[in-house]
Amino acid sequence: MAVGKMEGCGKATLKLEIGGAAPKEVELPVYCGTEGPSVVDVRGLYREAGVFTHDPGFFSTSSCASAITFIDGEEGILRHRGYDIQDLADNCTYLEVCYLLMYGELPNEKEYQEFAHKITYHTMVHEQINFLLRGFPRRAHPMAILVGSVASLSAFYHDSLDIFDEKQRDLASIRMLAKMPTLTAMAHKYSLGQPFVYPRNDLDYTSNFLHMMFATPCEEYKVSDVAARAMNKLLILHADHEQNASTSTVRLASSSQANPFACIGAGISCLWGPAHGGANEAVIDMLEEIGDVSNIPEFINRAKDKEDPFRLMGFGHRVYKNYDPRAAVLKLSCDEVLEEVGVTNSPKLQIAKELERIALEDEYFVERKLFPNVDFYSGIIYEALHIPVELYTGLFAMARTAGWVAQWREMISDPEQKIGRPRQIYTGEPRRDFVPMKKR
Ligand code: CMC
Repeated sequence: MAVGKMEGCGKATLKLEIGGAAPKEVELPVYCGTEGPSVVDVRGLYREAGVFTHDPGFFSTSSCASAITFIDGEEGILRHRGYDIQDLADNCTYLEVCYLLMYGELPNEKEYQEFAHKITYHTMVHEQINFLLRGFPRRAHPMAILVGSVASLSAFYHDSLDIFDEKQRDLASIRMLAKMPTLTAMAHKYSLGQPFVYPRNDLDYTSNFLHMMFATPCEEYKVSDVAARAMNKLLILHADHEQNASTSTVRLASSSQANPFACIGAGISCLWGPAHGGANEAVIDMLEEIGDVSNIPEFINRAKDKEDPFRLMGFGHRVYKNYDPRAAVLKLSCDEVLEEVGVTNSPKLQIAKELERIALEDEYFVERKLFPNVDFYSGIIYEALHIPVELYTGLFAMARTAGWVAQWREMISDPEQKIGRPRQIYTGEPRRDFVPMKKR
């Protein structure tokens, strides 16, 4: 598997003038990737000069070399292994993209069939997991169930926990991809009080997921082609996004050599927050709260008001300072899917489009380069497919498992990888004398 290779391409000289000390120059190596900004390697800085770099939120820090995903936030470009996201979303199945992310190349027919077969034959979960789920309250959020049940896979599949064994890594990867739809659908069925639906091996990945979501033992369920196609596209668009918060969480957790199921459980926890994957659910709540196109100006004003914690959900991105290319694909998909499922007049879609139009003309959003992101339109499609809003972030997690798995595999194979251990600037009390309790 290809690991991101950094080529030395220059040196940076850093001149430090700290306090009254004599100025000091430190020479640092510079590396260039195949695309994107070059990086200054600061690993030797503390050794050479006794100072740390300070970058909370990682605005200017690269944490690894990776050959999986390239983003140009200024231009609004997203590519996986060199392929534009639009091409992948228009032409591939989600499993083809999983293969691409994991192994570096698009599969040929034989490779694809073998991969799909392996995934299909790992979709069932250990029967004991049914009982684990039954311990949750019926009203539990599906993300709580996913965090718990995914991490618990490490208790069931002991033969895929050795991260230094390539075969076990592969087995864990296949299991993760195969079982995520099953667990996500189980979380949904549990909330409804309906029986869990077992996977069906004659269905493809997305159709099988929809079947497990919507079939009941009482009658035949036919998966709709429109729904399967839309779901396939949604999964591809969420599959990977380089070193975002949840992927970095998976990498950081794995850097201690923890098992993959526990690490992906950590990634799911991070994704849950409304600043990250939880935004898709928050967008729908927001559109409902806005309620009518006439109320949009009030919400735009609230988003601009620094005294008000309200933000336009599904707007803004740390990396994209241009239209998120995933949102562009989804905006088009919204129209297609709604038309195909017969929703001719979606008030939420109307509000979303008008909100986008007004925001993109407003100086506040223009100045800060705030555009719709992937979460802005996805919920409207999920709603048309009858997916309940509490499950939107779970679907994001299911899709992003491809990226987490690929990034985890790349990291384990990378000889440069070390345990992640950031440092800090200490701003607390300097040393002081201990005071016994009676004297405090
Ligand atoms: N509504 C109103 N103002 C915003 C918004 C927004 N959605 N996003 C950013 N801003 C303002 C922010 O107040 C700040 O203004 P100022 O410079 O005057 O202080 C400026 O824009 C920069 O924002 P930031 O919070 O410093 O930027 P960040 O890169 O740390 O945060 C973000 C990125 C995605 C967390 C943020 O844009 C946000 O909270 N968006 C809403 C939540 C959302 O849609 N999240 C999904 C992200 S994409 C998918 C994913 O990652 O899962």
